Amino acid sequence: MKKLVQATILKNECYIDGIFDMVLSAPEIAELAQPGQFLNLYTGKGEMLLPRPISLCEINPKKGTLRLLYQTAGKGTQYFSTLQKNDVIKVMGPLGNGFLTDKKWKKHILIGGGIGVPPLLELAKALQGEITVLIGAKSNPILIEEFEKTGAFVFVATDDGSHGVHGTVLDILKQNVPKGDMIYACGPKAMLKAVSDWAEQQKMPIQVSMEERMACGIGACVGCAVKIQKQGQTDWENLKVCKDGPVFWGNEVVWNE
Ligand SMILES: Cc1cc2nc3c(=O)[nH]c(=O)nc-3n(C[C@H](O)[C@H](O)[C@H](O)COP(=O)(O)OP(=O)(O)OC[C@H]3O[C@@H](n4cnc5c(N)ncnc54)[C@H](O)[C@@H]3O)c2cc1C
Ligand code: FES
Repeated sequence: MKKLVQATILKNECYIDGIFDMVLSAPEIAELAQPGQFLNLYTGKGEMLLPRPISLCEINPKKGTLRLLYQTAGKGTQYFSTLQKNDVIKVMGPLGNGFLTDKKWKKHILIGGGIGVPPLLELAKALQGEITVLIGAKSNPILIEEFEKTGAFVFVATDDGSHGVHGTVLDILKQNVPKGDMIYACGPKAMLKAVSDWAEQQKMPIQVSMEERMACGIGACVGCAVKIQKQGQTDWENLKVCKDGPVFWGNEVVWNE
């Protein structure tokens, strides 16, 4: 059940160049939220009416707080970066269907690329069993120490070779990653397609968190449709990232459309 609330900003600081770390007090949302779900953030400005979707990086129901990590991309996120501690922001959430979890899955592989990494942190904290995290970035991988603190095995790949393997998360996968009962991935579409193809070859199930440009963000406009072909169906259908996703089965996404 989603809530529309006025959340107080407890923290909004630069994490690294162009990426901000925001903590909100929003107990009504924190008590309901699950890893992989997202918030719609409103600017309250007439020229930026549409909400901006941002994933939940950490959820603390006891403290009633939510953590978001966002990259300044355009006008909306630039505006968010100017907000100060104790400012109030209108947010709606928790939105979408997050990652599916099951106690019978004991070995987990989490794969994040760029600003797709944050939602995997709350997932890593929620999962039980052996967790391997692969973090990919152009040059500045994020949240490495925080994933390590969860007890996960962490591997890093960067395009420029400044951290970890010189290459992509796929290069790590090809080298030395053990078999997992479930793979969970979030990042650029090209990365999601590549890891889904790899997972299919390895006969491992994979959930992917998709990102599409959104308008209403609540399932009312079809602005965020992706083509999904359900197992056993002969044709694809348009599903909404904001309402039916953002998490889908990797082998059901029609990647080449
Ligand atoms: C489910 C989901 C989770 C996301 N989680 C994060 C996150 O955790 N951290 C993060 O940095 N970014 C995240 N994004 C991307 C983020 O929503 C966009 O970068 C942001 O909306 C851009 O807004 P803007 O006003 O700064 O840019 P502009 O380009 O000026 O945005 C103009 C309009 O396009 C929409 N839009 C633009 N880019 C996107 C996009 N990639 N996805 C959806 N709508 C977009 C905006 O909502 C706005 O209505 C997520 C996107 C989705 C769909
Ligand atoms: S953004 Fe309107 S239906 Fe998803």
